[in-house]
Amino acid sequence: MKRVLSGIKPSGELNIGGYGGALHQFITIQHDFECFFFVPDLHAVTVPQDPKELFQRSKEIAAFYIAAGVDPNKATIFIQSHVPAHVELGWIMETQTHFGELSRMTQFKEKSEGKDSVSSALFTYPALMAADILLYQATHVPVGEDQKQHLEMTRDLAMRFNSRFEPTFTVPEPIIQSIGSRIMGLDDPTKKMSKSNPNRNSYVLLLDSPDDIRKKLSKAVTDSDMNVRYDWDNKPAVSNLIEIYAVFSGDSIATIGRRYEGQGYGTFKKDLAEVVVNKLVPIQERYREIIDSDELIRILKEGAVKAAEAAHSTLLRAKMAMGFVTF
Ligand code: TYM
Repeated sequence: MKRVLSGIKPSGELNIGGYGGALHQFITIQHDFECFFFVPDLHAVTVPQDPKELFQRSKEIAAFYIAAGVDPNKATIFIQSHVPAHVELGWIMETQTHFGELSRMTQFKEKSEGKDSVSSALFTYPALMAADILLYQATHVPVGEDQKQHLEMTRDLAMRFNSRFEPTFTVPEPIIQSIGSRIMGLDDPTKKMSKSNPNRNSYVLLLDSPDDIRKKLSKAVTDSDMNVRYDWDNKPAVSNLIEIYAVFSGDSIATIGRRYEGQGYGTFKKDLAEVVVNKLVPIQERYREIIDSDELIRILKEGAVKAAEAAHSTLLRAKMAMGFVTF
């Protein structure tokens, strides 16, 4: 059986980077796989979070899954901290993880750089992420490019555990799409679009108003010549905008290239803004309907029960394989 697990951390407002690399994939993948989409709130608290914001953002991420088109009758949607097996298997995975491997994780290096002190959980984070995935025997994990290293480590941990004890975990494959898996900042195409960038014009939020979306995209940096051409080596800024266009319109890069051949940036940027607005406005409307609804609470409660059931049998097998006393 093909099974998917993936999630988006509730650590800031959701931007179109997370949409391109993850959420956008969730919508299509749910038709072909048994899917678990979760809100990794335990991951969010590896860096300081304001409790009120964490509470709100965790609901927001779940509401966005549904508003963007994840069907709760098809996929299981839940909050990570509602399923304690994540923490338990997370600890077990930590016992199988080497200090040196964790030290090589580029996300840890980036997030700890220049900080006087960071939590030990930020360091051991990839072991918990491996547990998230392995608990559900996920065969596939749709993510953006920046999660590739964590996925490689998850695969290593699964294989290590399976050979050291007994075959317990499915070794998962990442699904990293060629388009949209690495959306860059609108102010600088060498840096990933990120909610932690202090320049609010560097990203488009899923909840930005149509006017803000238009303003931000019209201000996006472009490259020196005036051609709309997909060429990451020589024209990274425009190539990034073309990828955003492709994700939000569903058109291929080639079609977009043909459509804007010989035209300046002005028309292209205007059309890009409309493509993004047309996709996001209905998502925002649906989001507003569900964010404070009983329906959302019901979906999350049911999701937690289903997820806990699926997680329980793997956790038990892992504990038995390691020699824990289980009855
Ligand atoms: P997070 O919350 O940073 O990002 C969520 C997803 O969005 C993708 N993404 C991007 N894709 C393209 N361009 C961007 N600029 C961009 N920014 C973010 C990320 O690659 C990711 O797929 N560790 C994970 C959360 C997590 C998880 C898991 C994911 C915890 N356990 C198990 C999958 C499976 C994270 O911090 O993602």
